[in-house]
Amino acid sequence: MAEHKGTQWAPVKPQLMLGIESSCDDTSIAVLRGNVFLSQFTAAQHIHAKYGGVVPEFASRAHQRHIVPVLHGALEQAGCRLEDIEGIAYTRGPGLHGSLLVGSAFARSLAWSLKVPMWPVHHMRAHVLAHWLEDANPPTGPMMALTVSGGHTQLVDTRSPWTLEVVGTTMDDAAGEAFDKVAKMIGLPYPGGPHVDRLAQEGNAEAFAFSAPKMNGLDFSFSGLKTSVLRTLERDGGQAMRREGWQADVCASLQYTIVKMLVSRLEQAADRFGRTAVAIQGGVSANSGLRAGVEALARRRGWSVHIPPFKYCTDNGAMIAMAGQFASMRQESGSLSDGPLPRWPMESNQT
Ligand code: KG4
Ligand code: ZN
Repeated sequence: MAEHKGTQWAPVKPQLMLGIESSCDDTSIAVLRGNVFLSQFTAAQHIHAKYGGVVPEFASRAHQRHIVPVLHGALEQAGCRLEDIEGIAYTRGPGLHGSLLVGSAFARSLAWSLKVPMWPVHHMRAHVLAHWLEDANPPTGPMMALTVSGGHTQLVDTRSPWTLEVVGTTMDDAAGEAFDKVAKMIGLPYPGGPHVDRLAQEGNAEAFAFSAPKMNGLDFSFSGLKTSVLRTLERDGGQAMRREGWQADVCASLQYTIVKMLVSRLEQAADRFGRTAVAIQGGVSANSGLRAGVEALARRRGWSVHIPPFKYCTDNGAMIAMAGQFASMRQESGSLSDGPLPRWPMESNQT
């Protein structure tokens, strides 16, 4: 039985749920029984690397090519047949329109042909709900959750799997974008976040002092960081760039600055809402500096901490299936006419 270990919330049904994610450039399909992970297959798209960012038209075409083999891979790895599936969850938004169209049309037709319920899922909610997967150390009470990805930076006060409220957000770039833009500037491949993380281990975080504007309340701003890095590097005729190991120093200093901004806002938000549990999720939660920073915060304050395994950090089908499990407990199932919602605000939607 797929219960949440020790949670105060009702256990999810042990039904076999397929989760289909296609909001950006990863085609990912997972099979869950309740909140137990059975399998996940993901096809990443490498074509975007040479353009330095996701090209929407290429992304939707690649989803079309990948989605059937990814489904077969996920079913085979889970050891189940298509006819065994009892519900299908898919990302309805937000995301790239063409990419969402491929996954959502595929999911809805599959659910219709199998005569099983379909569950349209909000991608940003699903990032938070990934914490309830059995092998991700499910929360046992309310928590302050920080979603950090390529497109979003959100502080989400999470009172239960159904009650999520965005209490802080970025005014411009997302945290992942800040990593990616600076990485591109210093000649690292796209997406730059993981490369910055790796190079930062070899660099000196005190080599450069980068700054970004301070925001009021619980909001963030990252766009100034890129300019700050550029100005620093161009100073004195680009002298900094002639030093050996300068790129590693930029990476270490950038990572230090971003992590400090994120961790201090997370602490402030948890304090403001009286939460004694904190969480991070989304692609940037794979960052080693952020993981260490949030762990240190939790240790210092005596809080509990939720940091997902790597397979649930970047976009993945398992979090979509998990969101589908929760939706099936509280909501009417979706219908064939539920088209993609590329700009779906999180506030207007419950699970
Ligand atoms: O959640 P995600 O896979 O897709 C979106 O919904 O955007 O996040 C992708 C973002 C990219 O900006 C990527 O550079 C960043 O996550 N990322 C990282 C790391 N791994 C992925 N950023 C910093 N350090 C990492 N280790
Ligand atoms: Zn995402």
